[in-house]
Amino acid sequence: MQHKKYYFANWKMNVPAEAGAALAAQAKDIVLPDNLELALFPSFLALPAVRGAVGDAVPVGVQDCFWEDKGAFTGEVSPAELNAMGVKYVLVGHSERRQLMGESSEMVSRKVKAALRNGMCPVLCIGETAEDRSSGTWAVFLERELRESLAGVELSGTQKIIIAYEPIWAIGTGNACGVEQAVEAHKLIGNYLHEIFGAARKEEYFAVLYGGSVDAKNIKSYLEREEIAGALVGGASQKWPSLGDCIKALAS
Ligand code: PGA
Repeated sequence: MQHKKYYFANWKMNVPAEAGAALAAQAKDIVLPDNLELALFPSFLALPAVRGAVGDAVPVGVQDCFWEDKGAFTGEVSPAELNAMGVKYVLVGHSERRQLMGESSEMVSRKVKAALRNGMCPVLCIGETAEDRSSGTWAVFLERELRESLAGVELSGTQKIIIAYEPIWAIGTGNACGVEQAVEAHKLIGNYLHEIFGAARKEEYFAVLYGGSVDAKNIKSYLEREEIAGALVGGASQKWPSLGDCIKALAS
């Protein structure tokens, strides 16, 4: 692996504060390959404990944020407050939020802008359903979801957006996307980004990760491909030793 790669641990609602702090402390001691960045995405409530366990040694992200910085939005979480807590990354538009919480791409695009405005890096999740994959409409679906989720987004300076390609049929199923299928999707996403933002900006501002049933056995086959800049890992990142095993697999 030569290019910079990312391992993002999406803990979903599965790792409470105490367990998160313990797992984070173990993650902190993992010796990473030079070009690998590890980031942890705990629940909001586990965030202070995880930050306390790792300090600035391991970057942290969150799994969502609201699109306004403050105001009368009962129950929402402010991106400005998250930035003040040292959060570096924000997952935006995960398929679980799109499908279960009714998040539209229009809402997602507002969240992308809110994260950028507050000095954080959005990790924009996109991915097709099993029906779109089998009917052959997956590429059309991906293009629309990407364009709508990035509508009106402008980038400058050191800002960056990470795209996570997560086919819905591969998430939490053990049915990971074939490496060639993933590479094909990554190339398409790269082409769309090129069309929307231009070639130079695409290289400067974007990286594209794969997510969906990534584990210690298959992670290397994705990350050794040039097109795939990293992995967004759910289940296999939520406990020890599998979190460490994934990283060890990359170092071998
Ligand atoms: P999984 O989840 O690794 O458990 O499939 C990935 C994700 O939803 O980000």
